[in-house]
Amino acid sequence: MAEKYHIVTYGCQMNVHESEKMAGILHQMGYEETAKKEDADIILFNTCCIRENAENHAFGNIGALKKLKKQKPNLLIAVGGCMTQEKGKTDILKKKFPFIDIMFGTLNLEELGNLIARKKAQKKKVIEIREKEGEIVEFDDAYRTSYPNAWVNIMYGCNNFCSYCIVPYVRGRERSRKPEHILNEVKKLVAAGYKEITLLGQNVNSYGTDGKVKTSFAQLLDEVASIEGKFRVRFMTSHPKDFTEDVVKVMEKHRKICRLVHLPVQSGSNAILQAMNRRYTREKYLDEIAMLKSRLPEAEVTTDIIVGFPGETEEDYLQTEDLVKTVDYASAFTFVYSKRQGTKAAEMDGQIPEDIQKDRIMRLVELVNSLTRKKSEKYLGKSVEILCEDYDEKKGLYLGRDEFGRMGYFKSEKNLIGKFVTLKINKANGISLFGEIERIED
Ligand code: 5AD
Ligand code: SF4
Repeated sequence: MAEKYHIVTYGCQMNVHESEKMAGILHQMGYEETAKKEDADIILFNTCCIRENAENHAFGNIGALKKLKKQKPNLLIAVGGCMTQEKGKTDILKKKFPFIDIMFGTLNLEELGNLIARKKAQKKKVIEIREKEGEIVEFDDAYRTSYPNAWVNIMYGCNNFCSYCIVPYVRGRERSRKPEHILNEVKKLVAAGYKEITLLGQNVNSYGTDGKVKTSFAQLLDEVASIEGKFRVRFMTSHPKDFTEDVVKVMEKHRKICRLVHLPVQSGSNAILQAMNRRYTREKYLDEIAMLKSRLPEAEVTTDIIVGFPGETEEDYLQTEDLVKTVDYASAFTFVYSKRQGTKAAEMDGQIPEDIQKDRIMRLVELVNSLTRKKSEKYLGKSVEILCEDYDEKKGLYLGRDEFGRMGYFKSEKNLIGKFVTLKINKANGISLFGEIERIED
């Protein structure tokens, strides 16, 4: 019987996709997936360290395996991802959880197979954390778990050093994949029936500026969207300091590209943006949105916002609220600032007390939700094309998203996962839409 693996993933889309790559390596080695930890021969944690609570989750879940490992001494426990790449973290993990067998970083994910083989041949634990990024290792055998959606890395790493952020320390400098590798991957995915391709990078707009390739992001996007077939194209994340009109022109050219831009603003206050080292102002940000909407009036924007950054006054916070209302976001991911060791912001004066942070996040979430609810109401009676991506057992309904990422539910006797379904919306419930099928397309 084949050995079984179980992967636990924390964090962003980048990590979700990297878990698919890890799963690909495990399948190549003959492992099969199991949904139950207890049945696994190897349990792998793909960790995140962007905020403290992501780390705490991982700590809690790794710790909870102590008993299982005692019952099953041959069980392998591997920890990878951003947390292991953090300075000094492997020592802490080793001390706290001596039963971990393998640790590897984000910069040596592709070595996972070798590390498992090494561990099987020796008693000692295997720890391999690459210090500096190397050349990109192409790997096109990811075991994808999100049909009909597929994620495609176009670049790795980040050069921006926003003062709060640990990502540049754990993912190395920017390096772009060769356009021919990206295009081949997308062509294969489309031929295999994937219907939504999301191009991934920490800052997709700086694709090609690392001197490794001569293609700009706009050119790459144009080429991806020129591939034949009915499928959607998304991209994330765009950094406002680099979001330019050439990308919007490409969006205009191709209806395949969703009219949704994820443009993290982080704060609406110029003083805070400067302290965050974001390298744009509120005014420049609003100009970009105006430029986007002048070419694509139907376009929507989503964002990331941090509240409670060191030095944030009530006035700064209110400027964030004001900006949120002005932009009228389709949705927003809102975060409480989390102090990350080794970043510039961790050393700044004016760290904000927790009660103030909590108060601000609650007010902001309420504001964002009220905007989303208002937008939902506008959908009533309208026809909306969604890409069916799943079946909700509890609701007994299929579900999918429209191009703006809005979730739509509907009833169907037939399995429609992977089909474009046009719904007539008859109910809007907070952030979710409900409707009846008008049309189905492959
Ligand atoms: N604290 C809170 N939020 C953070 N983010 C990044 N670093 C931190 C931090 N230290 C948020 C940013 C980013 C998103 C992916 O996570 O908003 O855009
Ligand atoms: Fe972090 Fe800023 Fe890079 Fe985004 S752009 S990953 S927030 S440093």
